[in-house]
Amino acid sequence: MSERQGPAHGLSEHELSEIRMLIEERTGICFDESRARFFSTRVKEHLCAKGLERGTDLLRAMRKSNIEYEALLEGLLTQETSFFRYPSVYEAFEKRVLPELHVKKFWKNPRTLRIWSAGCSTGEEPYSIAITIADSLSFSDSWNVEILATDVGRLALKQAERGVYSGRSLGSVSQEQLAAHFTKTQNGQQVKPRLRKLVTFAQMNLASAVYVGRMDMIFCMNVLIYFSEERRRALVQRFYDTLEPGGYLFLGHSESISKMPVKFQAIVLNDCILYRKPTAEELQKPELVAEGRA
Ligand SMILES: C[S@@+](CC[C@H](N)C(=O)[O-])C[C@H]1O[C@@H](n2cnc3c(N)ncnc32)[C@H](O)[C@@H]1O
Repeated sequence: MSERQGPAHGLSEHELSEIRMLIEERTGICFDESRARFFSTRVKEHLCAKGLERGTDLLRAMRKSNIEYEALLEGLLTQETSFFRYPSVYEAFEKRVLPELHVKKFWKNPRTLRIWSAGCSTGEEPYSIAITIADSLSFSDSWNVEILATDVGRLALKQAERGVYSGRSLGSVSQEQLAAHFTKTQNGQQVKPRLRKLVTFAQMNLASAVYVGRMDMIFCMNVLIYFSEERRRALVQRFYDTLEPGGYLFLGHSESISKMPVKFQAIVLNDCILYRKPTAEELQKPELVAEGRA
């Protein structure tokens, strides 16, 4: 049998390409050569599961109904995640960023810290952020902590709201953290209500410019890698505009914005890079931006 897979029965290359373009146009996710096989396999499976004969039937249904469109999209999302996925990022968050923002915002009234986990998948990332803040002694109950966690995938968000985890996902959670922040249930470990209250989950497509208010930090890890260069630039610019001066952007390890024309200050700490939005004063005096620019 030939190694190369041709189009699925009833699914032409042209139809596949139309579906690919529809998904990219609406979500920004692009399926390049390296993910072409994954894409065609998933679309073919979906076509069979729906009992549809031809790709045109699927396209018609997706264009007509958002439910049909989302049903296919769900199967195309890569939602791999885990608690404290990059320990060095959380260490930098705890030891560098939180103390800095604590000092900066301590005298503000109300004393609020707003964080956006953009592309939060099944919730491990926003809960890791919440645990780090809860374990940081400097953030007592007198702080108003708001974590907005958004994703385009509805199924992942449902799981995130339940907050029940098991197995590999919990691999980097310490015994102390398990005891302090989780309750054992029949299906795994459930995040305690006190922590769940800090996180608001919402379905949101990053390809649409939805207003979320000003943020002190944005975590958008392992999401930009799926977008085209153009979309990446637009999104990074939007993150810049959304952040408070002195706020931070956290990206995944393989995501670099070094060639983009935004004015983030890149801070290299061990094996991670943090992106800080300079203050107005720092922008006027570039020598104040000591640690380099992205
Ligand atoms: C690989 S997961 C990353 C999860 C988490 N941030 C982490 O690093 O562990 C990528 C997530 O981005 C979401 N995503 C992809 N395109 C999106 C879009 N256009 N709008 C919102 N979320 C999107 C996917 O549904 C998925 O949950």
